Amino acid sequence: MSVDTPDDLRGLRAAGQVVAQTIRAMRRGVRPGITTAELDAIARNEFARAGARSGPQIDYGFPGTTCISVNDEAVHGIPGRRRLRRGDLVKLDVTAELDGFYADACRTVVVGDARPQALKLIRASEQALDAALKVVRSGVALNEIGATVQRLVRARGFSVCDGLMGHGIGRRIHEKPDVPNVFDPALTQRLSEGLVITIEPLVSAGGPQVRMHRDGWTVSTLDGSLAAHTEHTIVVRDGAPLILTA
Ligand code: MF3
Ligand code: CO
Ligand code: CO
Repeated sequence: MSVDTPDDLRGLRAAGQVVAQTIRAMRRGVRPGITTAELDAIARNEFARAGARSGPQIDYGFPGTTCISVNDEAVHGIPGRRRLRRGDLVKLDVTAELDGFYADACRTVVVGDARPQALKLIRASEQALDAALKVVRSGVALNEIGATVQRLVRARGFSVCDGLMGHGIGRRIHEKPDVPNVFDPALTQRLSEGLVITIEPLVSAGGPQVRMHRDGWTVSTLDGSLAAHTEHTIVVRDGAPLILTA
């Protein structure tokens, strides 16, 4: 969507705050022995308190409140009986709907102490998002985002996961336009002020290929290497973007 009125902005900001606060609460819960279903219950409680609903659940019938993906799982992991262990890389991807407005964000965290390579991978996804946030503004071509993410990820010696990308958002989870993490020469469309999008670098420590699990949701790296994911929902402006999920 595009922000047209003060009410649009208020609604989006409120949804963004629910997402940010939910991720903070889940992060505090991350520890060895907790199950991903228990982490998801933290989100369910936060949403209930805020009067928010799970975007993945209402838009797609996703079997969980949030997507929790561990280690080689890149996106759309289903919360369940899996217990987190020291050193696991956990992606907390949270999409809330509040009063008809959607916001979406993800953080990757480590259970206990991280191995240096895992930290480097997480930092690459965070730095790729930061770099993209520095270039997005109205008038910039859409493919500048992908070019920026791809450049940073490659410079760190990692890969961008195939086919996983950001998106327009606001009245649904996934709206136009797609926001790829790689340079596409065809995407010369210029970003307009007020456009609401996510930017979400998905980074693999190994190859770029991914595979879908038999559960029909979970997407993992094909070679089993670790994946990291960092995401914010933003509003494009004439200057620096407004980060709704900060
Ligand atoms: N949060 C995901 C994203 O960043 C969307 C999950 S919807 C699902 O695009 F149903 F596929 F889980
Ligand atoms: Co997301
Ligand atoms: Co998203």
